[in-house]
Amino acid sequence: MTEAPQTSGTTPAFAPRVFSGIQPSGGLTLGNYLGALKRFVEKQDEGVETIYCLVDLHAITVWQEPAKLRHATREAAAGFLAAGIDPARSILFNQSQVPAHAELAWIFNCVARMGWLSRMTQFKDKAGKNRENASVGLFAYPNLMAADILAYHATHVPVGEDQKQHLELTRDIAIKFNHDYGIEFFPIVEPVIEGAATRVMSLRDGTKKMSKSDPSDMSRINLTDDADAIAQKIRKARTDPDPLPEALDGLSERPEARNLVNIYAALADISPAAVLQDFAGQGFGAFKPALADLAVEKLRPINSEMARLMDDPAEIDRTLGGGAERAEAIARPIVERCFEITGMIRSRG
Ligand code: TYM
Repeated sequence: MTEAPQTSGTTPAFAPRVFSGIQPSGGLTLGNYLGALKRFVEKQDEGVETIYCLVDLHAITVWQEPAKLRHATREAAAGFLAAGIDPARSILFNQSQVPAHAELAWIFNCVARMGWLSRMTQFKDKAGKNRENASVGLFAYPNLMAADILAYHATHVPVGEDQKQHLELTRDIAIKFNHDYGIEFFPIVEPVIEGAATRVMSLRDGTKKMSKSDPSDMSRINLTDDADAIAQKIRKARTDPDPLPEALDGLSERPEARNLVNIYAALADISPAAVLQDFAGQGFGAFKPALADLAVEKLRPINSEMARLMDDPAEIDRTLGGGAERAEAIARPIVERCFEITGMIRSRG
C-alpha cells in the first residue's frame, strides 16, 4: 500500500486509514466482488485500519422498495462477512446509522460547486435524458460520498475504476474546504484502483460495465448465483471465434475475451499475462469450462456462507449496529470539529 498522501504538500501526516462503501441497491455482482470486496479483505488482512459501509442513504437516490432495501442491506452485509470481512478487525456498518455522514454532506453541499457535480459522468448516465425528474439526491450524491470518506479522515479508498471521478471530486472538496477555512483539516485521499479486475464488463457486451442494474441477469454473475447458474452464464458469455493470443496486446480489440481473461486472473490471483501463458492458442471451448470451474470453486463457499448468515438476520443487524457505534466514535469528533471550523456554535452539554 502507498504511503499516506503527500499531495497537497502542506497536509499534515494522517494515519493510514482505509474507507470504502457499496450500495445495497440490489444484489452484489462479480464486479463488486473482484473490483471492491475482495480488495477490502486484502486491505483488512494487511493490518491497516479498515472501515466498510453499506451506503443505504446513497441507495435511495433512486427509488427503493423499503422491504427490499432492508433485505439487500442485510444480504450485502452477509456478502462482506462471507467474503472474509471480520467485524472484529474491520468496522462494518450501514451508513444511515451514523448521522455524521449526512451532516458533513450538508457542509460539502456548500463547498462543492454546481459545475463540478454537473460534470459527473455517473449522474449523466443515471439521470439519462430525464434530468428534470432525477432526485436532488442523485445530483448531490458525490458530496455524500466525500462525506463518507472524510468524516473518518480516511486516507485510502479502494474502489473499481468507475468511482475514480468521484474520488477526484472528494479531493477537490477537501482542498477547497482546507483552502477556504485556512486549515489543513481534511486529508487528500488516494484512490486505490488496483488489480486485474478494476472494471469487470458485462458478459453480454464487453464494452459495458457489469452492473446490478443491467436488465439482463445473464450479463452478470451475482454472489447469490448457484454453481449451475454461474457455469451457464459463463458458457453463454459472448466471445469471438479466435483462440487466445500469447500476449496481452492481442486482446486490445477483443473486449469480451479480455474481460474473461481478466476475470480469470482476478479469481486466480495471477496476472492476465500468466493466464495467457497457460491458455495461449486455446479457444473458448477450452477456456470457458476452466473459467467456470474456477469461478464456482471461488464463489461457492461465499454463496453458501451468505445463505447461512441470512438465516439469522437479527445477528447481521447486531453486527451492523456494533460497527455503527465504533464508526460513530471516530466520525463524531471529526464532524464536531468541522462544524466549529465553519463557525457553528456547539454549546450543548
Ligand atoms: P457501487 O455500489 O456501484 O459499487 C461498489 C464497488 O464495486 C465496484 N464495482 C466494480 N468494480 C469492477 N467492475 C465492475 N463492474 C464494478 N461494479 C462496481 C465500484 O467501483 C465500487 O468500488 N459510490 C459508490 C459507493 C460509495 C463509496 C463511498 C465508495 C459511497 N460512498 C465512499 C467508496 C467510498 C458506488 O455507487 O459503488
